[in-house]
Amino acid sequence: MSTPSLPLPGGTWTLGDMTVTRFGYGAMQLAGPWVMGPPADREGAVAVLREAVDLGVTHIDTSDAYGPRVTNELIREALHPYPASLHIATKVGATRDAQGGWPVARRPEDLRRQVHDNLTSLGLDVLDLVNLRLGNAEGPRPGSLAEPFETLVELQQQGLIRHLGVSNATEEQVREARSIAPIVCVQNMYNLAHRHDDQLVDRLATDGIAYVPYFPLGGFTPLQSSALSAVAARSKATPMSVALAWLLRRSPNILLIPGTSSLAHLRENIAGAGLPLSDEDLTALDEIGTGTLTARQP
Ligand SMILES: NC(=O)c1ccc[n+]([C@@H]2O[C@H](COP(=O)([O-])OP(=O)(O)OC[C@H]3O[C@@H](n4cnc5c(N)ncnc54)[C@H](OP(=O)(O)O)[C@@H]3O)[C@@H](O)[C@H]2O)c1
Repeated sequence: MSTPSLPLPGGTWTLGDMTVTRFGYGAMQLAGPWVMGPPADREGAVAVLREAVDLGVTHIDTSDAYGPRVTNELIREALHPYPASLHIATKVGATRDAQGGWPVARRPEDLRRQVHDNLTSLGLDVLDLVNLRLGNAEGPRPGSLAEPFETLVELQQQGLIRHLGVSNATEEQVREARSIAPIVCVQNMYNLAHRHDDQLVDRLATDGIAYVPYFPLGGFTPLQSSALSAVAARSKATPMSVALAWLLRRSPNILLIPGTSSLAHLRENIAGAGLPLSDEDLTALDEIGTGTLTARQP
């Protein structure tokens, strides 16, 4: 156990009526290989979750599809009864098949079942934040989200969900969701090398909506770039630290949910996210991405 001493890098953000640390934790990698089955080291996974909260993290991202159920059950084992300050975000819209695939499951009855499954496996009466996961494993796909999103709004009106978000969404789907009900976040793939959502990040920042990049460190394929390595070398830091510090600087509405099953990496990432980046570093890092950077936190 660690004693929380310093505020986490990036400070806090408000998701609806919930204050969360911008440095959060993504729990997906706690399940077995390819997010199926139990972890090889169950005690280690529980220890990582407890350490994250001990170090001050108040935002954990999960899904009942991870494992399936494995990650949520680990969170419950490690942290229930949950501290009042902790907010757990989950996702619905996909399940798992026997081959480890992620089949879409967005019919009203699928979503109702997934919300109840998350409540059960996490041991909660109300889910703090539910993201409707759209698209497929290849990324966002166009098309109306009205029916599945309205189903989640019904569940919210029944008191089972506090706040809604969307994930793996196109900009048009974000607009459509917001025309139906308020959302507090968009969770899409974004990192130093994948900057497709640059303009969306900025627009959401203007409207006070969080942008939560998944795969902040590259996910299953770690970020690799000579520019990133050069900045890391001259900062005497790891590329992971630079990638996280860049995201926190990129825009104040970005919330980090890096995943790790390692206590050492968790501590390293928290310390590293606070790395100061010079203007020269930022210019070099901006050139890695493909989008156009238009805003950055001072
Ligand atoms: N909405 C969606 O569709 C969606 C899709 C994917 C993920 N997500 C969410 O996003 C979260 C983050 O994604 P992710 O965990 O897949 O990817 P990630 O955070 O980009 O990267 C995690 C990987 O980086 C490694 N890592 C972490 N810190 C490291 C360090 N300091 N040094 C070396 N390696 C390090 C981890 O390995 P170790 O375990 O060895 O540290 C793990 O393999 C997930 O937990 C999940 O909650 C959402």
